Amino acid sequence: MSEISGRTVVITGGARGMGRIIALKTARLGGRVVIFDVAAGELEEAVAEIRANGLEAHGYVCDVSDRNEVYHAADEVRAQVGPVDIVVNNAGIISGRRLLDIPDERIEAVFGVNVLALYWTAKAFLPDMIGRNRGHFVTMASAAGLLGVNRQTDYSASKHAAIGFTESLRVELKKAGHTGVKTTIVEPFYVDTGMMAGVRSRFPRLLPILKEDEVAGRVVRAVLRDEPEVSMPFMVGLIPVFRLLPAGLFDQVANFFGVHESMEGFVGRPEA
Ligand SMILES: NC(=O)c1ccc[n+]([C@@H]2O[C@H](COP(=O)([O-])OP(=O)(O)OC[C@H]3O[C@@H](n4cnc5c(N)ncnc54)[C@H](O)[C@@H]3O)[C@@H](O)[C@H]2O)c1
Repeated sequence: MSEISGRTVVITGGARGMGRIIALKTARLGGRVVIFDVAAGELEEAVAEIRANGLEAHGYVCDVSDRNEVYHAADEVRAQVGPVDIVVNNAGIISGRRLLDIPDERIEAVFGVNVLALYWTAKAFLPDMIGRNRGHFVTMASAAGLLGVNRQTDYSASKHAAIGFTESLRVELKKAGHTGVKTTIVEPFYVDTGMMAGVRSRFPRLLPILKEDEVAGRVVRAVLRDEPEVSMPFMVGLIPVFRLLPAGLFDQVANFFGVHESMEGFVGRPEA
């Protein structure tokens, strides 16, 4: 069991969406919350909201895709708040466009935030965790990290990478004997935060658009219980089983479930 009470918890992308709720829930459990986000105004509001509840929160404007910004912010956190026990890598972006319509810079940005940031936060915070043989590294991946999706060549590929990174880190830590440092990979279907505004589910009973509060709560529970992998809803956990089919049949199954139509109405966040 990972403790949250009294622990310092960095949440990237914690100014909005699920990160913001994870931050509030973590603070309510007695965690010392540290939020890294690029959205300065929303960051200030998120920190103020937690403090208004009489709880501890600190905000750092930090572009997690920029390793120098991450290393600098990590030094500031160590000096001002203390060593970090838990990192929730939650910041994420998507373009939602077909490959040939995605500007090159946007592809780089998606990989910068969704993938490379994991390397920078790991390099910044793991040494302290390994030194104490205690810590937790959480990656908000996605169900899109388990299968390719129409109009997600950037996003889906980045989430596959996020899963591969975190799984490799998990075994690397175990092999090196750092058994007190835990990892959790989270693989949710679409969530109603606004990031994926406009997406649809063909079978909302089987594959509901998830509520942000529900997923945030599940992430916190996964940390408390040291769960290495969490997918939701239940159907997402079956994707690896469907993958046993030949590729053509697998695509037909995904099509039947409406996966490759799900992005047709995508608008996302206006500025993201
Ligand atoms: N919303 C969904 O349908 C869904 C589904 C599965 C997985 N996820 C993943 O869950 C995570 C959170 O998603 P959300 O829906 O809450 O997103 P969101 O858009 O509501 O919030 C993302 C936050 O990340 C911040 N951010 C973006 N770029 C950043 C950067 N370079 N540096 C620091 N912060 C940055 C944003 O300012 C924002 O506060 C993401 O990793 C996302 O890919 C989302």
